[in-house]
Amino acid sequence: MTAHDDTVQQPASARLLELLSAKWLSQAVGVVARLGIADLVADKPRTPLDLATACETNPQALYRILRATACIGVLAEDDQGRFALTPLAEPLRSDVPGSLRAAAITMNMDPMWRPYGHIDHSVRTGEPAFDYVYGTSVYQYLRDHLEAAALFQQTAAGFYAMSAPPVVAAYDFSPYRTIVDVGGGIGALLATILHGNPQARGVLLEDASVIPLARDRLAAAGVADRVDLVAGDFFAEVPSTGDLYLIKSCLRNWDDHDAGRILATIRAAMPAGVRLLVVDAVVPTGNDFHHSKISDVELLTVAGGRERRADEWQALFATTGFRPSATIPTPGPVALMEVEAA
Ligand SMILES: C[S@@+](CC[C@H](N)C(=O)[O-])C[C@H]1O[C@@H](n2cnc3c(N)ncnc32)[C@H](O)[C@@H]1O
Repeated sequence: MTAHDDTVQQPASARLLELLSAKWLSQAVGVVARLGIADLVADKPRTPLDLATACETNPQALYRILRATACIGVLAEDDQGRFALTPLAEPLRSDVPGSLRAAAITMNMDPMWRPYGHIDHSVRTGEPAFDYVYGTSVYQYLRDHLEAAALFQQTAAGFYAMSAPPVVAAYDFSPYRTIVDVGGGIGALLATILHGNPQARGVLLEDASVIPLARDRLAAAGVADRVDLVAGDFFAEVPSTGDLYLIKSCLRNWDDHDAGRILATIRAAMPAGVRLLVVDAVVPTGNDFHHSKISDVELLTVAGGRERRADEWQALFATTGFRPSATIPTPGPVALMEVEAA
């Protein structure tokens, strides 16, 4: 049994201490990602001295970081004191499909980290501690800090790519000809849908700053000629040409008032009889682990917005003139909530 084996029965205090030390481990994995260690050991195991020379760090200090990550299964030290890749370290490589290297760096970088020192502010006021610490929203901060924004975009692109296939597998898109993805990001979901549905075209509504990235991503996926890119504002106007509408991972970024405004704009644009698929987490009741219960802490502290339970979604739909017709689970953390005009 290893130190990180969950089957070992621990006293509650030891388990709690292990949970509290997640902070140390998250940052240790973050610096391993920043230094590109997984890329450096991809071909063969290397000593801490060798790695420290390659990434210009203190060899003893680097060894201590590597040893810590090896005790949780990220990297492994062999009997010659060299560190090697493990399955958990594999996604820290920069050149693998579904790489989480950018995520490991982004989640541990100062602006994403510092608000947690002020989480009390969020709990007292309900406002993001990020805004309190930086005097602006995370979105404005990223507009003003291009290096952080590039990392954030890379992280988002990785998450979007991972989240699209389970959504597409869960729903039959074959009856639809024009699918409008509202706030569709760089087009990962539309590209995956269009690949499997040659009859369909897509319309991607996005903020103007994202449109060039979407154009590149859709071209790389070979579907650019089947997607109309629309630069716009989902609070103001949504294209009215769809026979299916999608909105994925957007409404969670807004409180009920603003999420309701977005839904009302979509509702106003949708032709009669057309459905909207809201793709977002539905927070389960009870105590079981669900990713949305902890991502909600990030929304509270950093980004603003909220994850919602089924009854909270129902209330939001009811106030914006929608009636749920089906909720389809996926193997991932999100569900597909199919709604139609009430
Ligand atoms: C969390 S991302 C979700 C992206 C995509 N739906 C996905 O899941 O892959 C939210 C998206 O909303 C877009 N967005 C934010 N405000 C917007 C606005 N006012 N109008 C249109 N898009 C907006 C952002 O640019 C961002 O790409």
